[in-house]
Amino acid sequence: MVERSNPRYLGISLIFLIISILSVLSWFLILYSTNPNRAHVYESTDTPLNDIFTSSNNSPQENRGGTTETEEPVNENRVEEALRCTNKDSPPTPLKVYMYDMSPEFHFGLLGWEPERDDVVWPDIRVNVPYHPGGLNLQHSVEYWLTLDLLFSEFAEDSRSSRAAVRVKNSSEADVVFVPFFSSLSYNRFSKVTEKQKKSRDRELQDNVVKFVTSQKEWKSSGGKNHVIMAHHPNSMSTARHKLYPAMFVVADFGRYSPRVANVDKDVVAPYKHLVPSYPNDTSGFDGRPILLYFQGAIHRKDGGFVRQELYEFLKEEKDVHFSFGSVRNHGIAKAGEGMRSSKFCLNIAGDTPSSNRLFDAIASHCVPVIISDDIELPYEDVLNYNEFCVFVRSSDALKKGFLMGLVRSIGREEWSKMWRRLKEVERYFDLRFPTKDDDGDYGVQMIWKAVARKAPMMKMKVHRFQRFTRPFVGFSED
Ligand SMILES: *[C@@H]1O[C@H](CO)[C@@H](O)[C@H](O)[C@H]1NC(C)=O
Ligand SMILES: *[C@@H]1O[C@H](CO)[C@@H](O)[C@H](O)[C@H]1NC(C)=O
Repeated sequence: MVERSNPRYLGISLIFLIISILSVLSWFLILYSTNPNRAHVYESTDTPLNDIFTSSNNSPQENRGGTTETEEPVNENRVEEALRCTNKDSPPTPLKVYMYDMSPEFHFGLLGWEPERDDVVWPDIRVNVPYHPGGLNLQHSVEYWLTLDLLFSEFAEDSRSSRAAVRVKNSSEADVVFVPFFSSLSYNRFSKVTEKQKKSRDRELQDNVVKFVTSQKEWKSSGGKNHVIMAHHPNSMSTARHKLYPAMFVVADFGRYSPRVANVDKDVVAPYKHLVPSYPNDTSGFDGRPILLYFQGAIHRKDGGFVRQELYEFLKEEKDVHFSFGSVRNHGIAKAGEGMRSSKFCLNIAGDTPSSNRLFDAIASHCVPVIISDDIELPYEDVLNYNEFCVFVRSSDALKKGFLMGLVRSIGREEWSKMWRRLKEVERYFDLRFPTKDDDGDYGVQMIWKAVARKAPMMKMKVHRFQRFTRPFVGFSED
């Protein structure tokens, strides 16, 4: 039957071709929409902060108040939402944390602590808490406070009625696995390569942490997705982060991370420890603070620094603005503390990184922070509304002549006092300390653990997904 007419044959082939193309196209569409990495990662330029001011009106008052509802960003968050809701109905149980018994060289050894015996890993903090020398290293000391809190949680001496986290010795029972590496201290103290070294001690410790952690059964059975790793100094974990990124990092901001390695969905932002003393019994009020706007810090900075330079040009003629240059090193901390206590508003401008301890110094001084840092991420922002006690200004607005002063002057006594009172309420959320007492339920360390706990269900889900194809796996638990 060679008689088949050519046109008919051609027609069938054409239909077949079209169907093939359509099916290939739909295949690509499905692939695209189910790629788990796509929806999860915030571009670093796409922070929620950018959404806060979307008003097209540029008058300061309008713009500041012009918050819009931010849209539900990601579909997959619904799962997290749902899990959170079920948690709400049950009584609050502390987060169960398994901590690796790592060699002291990774943690308190960095503070000079030496165990009395080789088989001892942790100091008995009921007797002796290894001393933290303070100074500028203290800014990134969240690693120290979290670890102390965890160690303390297993002692009978911990009589707190509510604890956000407890240490468990059996990793199968844990919600998360904690890696006690004091990475910021390691960076601060040992990142310089001395003449005799090929690589710095910090680099060596990082390599050893990676080697240790990735060889543990807890890591292997979870892909690291339930691990918590502290990397508060923006330069800490500079190499290890690229190998341990399935874990949750505890960071200061995401300025020096690619969104794949760290992002606001996966990780937890923790406060800096403020360097200025806190201000108990502050009765200053609006009239007790003669300086309208205070800024302390270096002018010439890389990256975000141009905003500082420009602002200085705008503000140097203003009589109730105080600019104080230079580093905090030279007795500057006490002076900065006094300056902030005497000011109504404190400028917080992005420098080398989106965040700095200056914000937390301002909060401790009850000086209403004015934040000019488009990429800043803030601790516990899912439960804390910073608009109640901070003023946010986009960099592009700050560079408009007169904008910043217009905005600050438009905030009157009543509005300012409300923010000041709120500052006095929230300051404890940022207060990192040890020992903790019974009323410390919402002090900094507890707040950080709670932030980790809010992400624990999502971590668990990732672990379950990871385990789909790894049967039989170690560390199986019944839940
Ligand atoms: C750890 O916990 C699991 C699950 O609860 C249990 O089966 C196992 O026996 C425990 N291991 C030890 C050493 O207690
Ligand atoms: C603050 O006030 C309380 C209660 O009035 C008082 O006990 C405390 O000593 C005061 N603290 C300071 C530093 O003045």
